Amino acid sequence: MTEETITLITGANRGMGFELALELGQKGQRIIIGARNVKKGQAAVEKLAGQGVSAALVQLDVTDQASIAAAVKQLKQDCGRLDILINNACAAFGSRTKPSKVSQDTLHQNMSINYFGLIAVTQAMLPLLRKSASAKIINISSMMGSMTAALTPGSEVYKASVVGYQAAKSAANMFTIQLAKELQQEKAMISVNAIDPGMVATTFGGVPAFVSKQMGGKPVAEGVARTVALALAPDNATTATFSNTQGVVGW
Ligand SMILES: NC(=O)c1ccc[n+]([C@@H]2O[C@H](COP(=O)([O-])OP(=O)(O)OC[C@H]3O[C@@H](n4cnc5c(N)ncnc54)[C@H](OP(=O)(O)O)[C@@H]3O)[C@@H](O)[C@H]2O)c1
Repeated sequence: MTEETITLITGANRGMGFELALELGQKGQRIIIGARNVKKGQAAVEKLAGQGVSAALVQLDVTDQASIAAAVKQLKQDCGRLDILINNACAAFGSRTKPSKVSQDTLHQNMSINYFGLIAVTQAMLPLLRKSASAKIINISSMMGSMTAALTPGSEVYKASVVGYQAAKSAANMFTIQLAKELQQEKAMISVNAIDPGMVATTFGGVPAFVSKQMGGKPVAEGVARTVALALAPDNATTATFSNTQGVVGW
């Protein structure tokens, strides 16, 4: 009998994180929902149970070292290892601020969750991931963090300017590359990849999902498709890539 795959998804109480929990749970993975708010996390666990998926909950605020340490302790006790870490939690601040005017506070807020938080969770979970025979770290990125796309007239993000959020996603992309190379060099069986879900109709950025949909946001199932494919892939050779459902995209 093959071992079950133990998967932690950060920011999984709603949006694409919730959809990932649902779809990967339906495929038989043992799901641990990370949620900064326990009540919201419990509500998500109940909603998943109503759809046939039994998930566990861990309180996890990616910007809070004590919360991360407690989550590691809980996972160590309950699971003993981790096979997949999906760094999905996010927030964007300062959406209409020009680069020439963006405040230090806005930059720090964006970096805190989307960059420092992602790294803090990843580093803390690495000892558990190292216990897996074949582990995957999947960082949910965005074309908003692609410098190639930002410089390509006609690309979906060419006209976008949310420098704090974009820079944090670019920085997380660089972390993805560097960690992937480090783990590859030491022959650790851990892949590290970044994924662009595309524009998806969640409530991201405080925009109601129906408004996001009117603006062209895709259904959440389409947004998570590439992540689900990577999480389910039996072969774990792919590392240091940035991709979406169309294939590899420019960093
Ligand atoms: N939606 C899009 O169009 C789009 C496009 C490209 C990339 N992405 C990326 O896709 C991923 C998922 O986006 P989404 O649209 O599903 O976002 P979302 O609906 O806004 O959900 C964000 C999740 O992150 C959680 N979160 C926020 N701050 C946190 C913290 N400090 N610690 C832990 N969790 C925290 C939220 O929890 P609370 O409920 O407690 O706030 C929520 O569960 C993100 O990485 C995003 O950057 C999204």
